[in-house]
Amino acid sequence: MAKEFKRYLVTSALPYANGPVHIGHLAGVYIPSDIYTRYLRLKGCDVISVCGSDEHGVPITIKARKEGVSPQQIVDRYHELIKKSFEGLGMSFDIYSRTSSATHAETASAFFRKLYDEGKFIEKNSMQYYDEEAQTFLADRYIVGTCPKCGNDRAYGDQCEKCGSTLSPDELIDPHSAVSGSVPVKRETKHWYLPLDQYEGFLREWILEGHKEWKSNVYGQCKSWLDGGLQPRAVSRDLDWGIPVPVEGAEGKVLYVWFDAPIGYISATKDLTPDWEKYWKSEDTKMVHFIGKDNIVFHCIVFPSMLKAHGGYILPENVPANEFLNLEGDKISTSRNWAVWLHEYLEEFPGKEDVLRYVLCANAPETKDNDFTWKDFQARNNNELVAILGNFVNRALVLTQKYFGGETPACGELTDYDRETIAEVAAVKASLEANIENYRFREALKEAMNIARIGNKYLADTEPWKVIKSDPERVKTILNIALQITANTAIAIEPFMPFSAAKILKMLATEKFGWERLGAMDLISAGHRIGEPSLLFEKIEDDVIQRQLDKLAATKAANQAAEAAQYVEPQKDTIQFDDFQKMDIRVSTILAAEKVAKTKKLLKLTVDTGIDKREIVSGIAEYFTPEELVGKQVLVLVNLAPRELKGILSKGMILMAEDASGKLRLLQPGDPTNNGAVVG
Ligand code: 2FM
Ligand code: ZN
Repeated sequence: MAKEFKRYLVTSALPYANGPVHIGHLAGVYIPSDIYTRYLRLKGCDVISVCGSDEHGVPITIKARKEGVSPQQIVDRYHELIKKSFEGLGMSFDIYSRTSSATHAETASAFFRKLYDEGKFIEKNSMQYYDEEAQTFLADRYIVGTCPKCGNDRAYGDQCEKCGSTLSPDELIDPHSAVSGSVPVKRETKHWYLPLDQYEGFLREWILEGHKEWKSNVYGQCKSWLDGGLQPRAVSRDLDWGIPVPVEGAEGKVLYVWFDAPIGYISATKDLTPDWEKYWKSEDTKMVHFIGKDNIVFHCIVFPSMLKAHGGYILPENVPANEFLNLEGDKISTSRNWAVWLHEYLEEFPGKEDVLRYVLCANAPETKDNDFTWKDFQARNNNELVAILGNFVNRALVLTQKYFGGETPACGELTDYDRETIAEVAAVKASLEANIENYRFREALKEAMNIARIGNKYLADTEPWKVIKSDPERVKTILNIALQITANTAIAIEPFMPFSAAKILKMLATEKFGWERLGAMDLISAGHRIGEPSLLFEKIEDDVIQRQLDKLAATKAANQAAEAAQYVEPQKDTIQFDDFQKMDIRVSTILAAEKVAKTKKLLKLTVDTGIDKREIVSGIAEYFTPEELVGKQVLVLVNLAPRELKGILSKGMILMAEDASGKLRLLQPGDPTNNGAVVG
């Protein structure tokens, strides 16, 4: 029998405060955690949901250095932005805290100190890269070099972002410091390590034996870490941004961000309630960590080992990590700006918070990576939210206004079909609950939407707009049932789309119902006057979607240009001056230009070289229109041996610069000059 818990502690991965939140974070972590929490609250459970900004770690210091500001300024900026945008999307954390808080520093220090005092760490000296110019040890991220796997010359000491390989600084070819650019040296330094190998037995039993019900992606990753053998992990770093290691002789050392961040869940709970211990130290609490797949090892292996080493804390009951969401077929990337940013979405789509919540849940990467596309976003809004949910609610309310002046009609005698419909609605509750409780939120959302589907079908089949003429009494029953189904819809969708649920309740002019009322058919009493109906969702037109696609296309072009700008062809073999002098290059004016028939790339140009007027065929039709070329002065290699192209004798070559993406640009004299002027 499944264990009964008295209370719930829901944690959501603390986002790094070095950038805004995007749809990948939302689909992977925050939408699922909010659905779960809202559901438990609606059920009347004792539940708290904690989150906050992860404000330590090297990427924050790198960003600060790049912008010439302090790390504190960076985290202040993004903490506020993330907090506000989460609120805008209706995230219902009980607290959104931050790891630069005093409570957190105290909690994390005390945690470390207890483990230190009890001899739970190994102290070890090792040789690490040191930047003599900047006089600082270099965290792996601060070392840049060439990736041994793909040749990317901007790989980091921990990872190559081009080929995705995990690296160690020693593997980099030509390593240099990202701080000063100098070549780092190796220097000895002391660190504290958590001997994870000593926790292997405990982890095997707890996860591999005790939690076979975990999602297969999570269980599988844990198993492969455990089967690969665990190594001691350093829990301190040589950095000046973070929580100082609370030990004498540890100047210049801070707690490793992955040591302090999960303790952030504890400090957030402390800041939320003086009763925090009941959530962290009682076996009656069910703790669930919502995270993305890149966080699995930290939440299933490292943090539980820390909690075990400390003692007195409960362990997570489940860690329902999601896979990744891609965007229009490409990996979401903060550095390449390939993302849909939450704060921008909220500005560009006011009032459509639930549309994003709906689409990201319906398409959540629960078992495999998934793709977000703007076309799918539009289709789900128009064909599901507008056509099913919005349409049903609107019809039920509008017909009640129209036929009964907004007064809920009484339910008369039920037909078999009415009874079947009522039973179908009631049956949704059990499957919806089972899906949410087993972290299958996509399926759960389908179930919630089914109530509106059932309602739509009921109205379509019973046709109150026709029956009203012949049997108005029957219509009373139909609309009473339709209004009960509408109220049921509001209960079922609340965890997923809280704004729309509230809007439905407002239109029904009724208070919020508890989850236990789901399936009931006496939610709206006869005689109750409903409010004014308004549209729940509106259609999203093509031009709105096109604007988003154009924005992404502009990002892609900018990325390609930036990449191209980085790439420079190596120099060719040396030539002698005589070789160069053999080339006769002249300033010439393009007099006429036309496309060469049946070709995509070729243009026939008539040019005045100052020596003569001649024809040149050039493969530039993809980059220039004939009209924009006419009248331009260009540089022409005039003594190139003529050759025939598509039946035209081409006498010379127009000189171009080609960037790494293959884009061509004309070479032109700085000022207009006479045709025939010699270049050399
Ligand atoms: O991957 C991340 O975004 C981390 N900042 C998550 C930290 S979760 C927790 F341990 F704090
Ligand atoms: Zn690589």
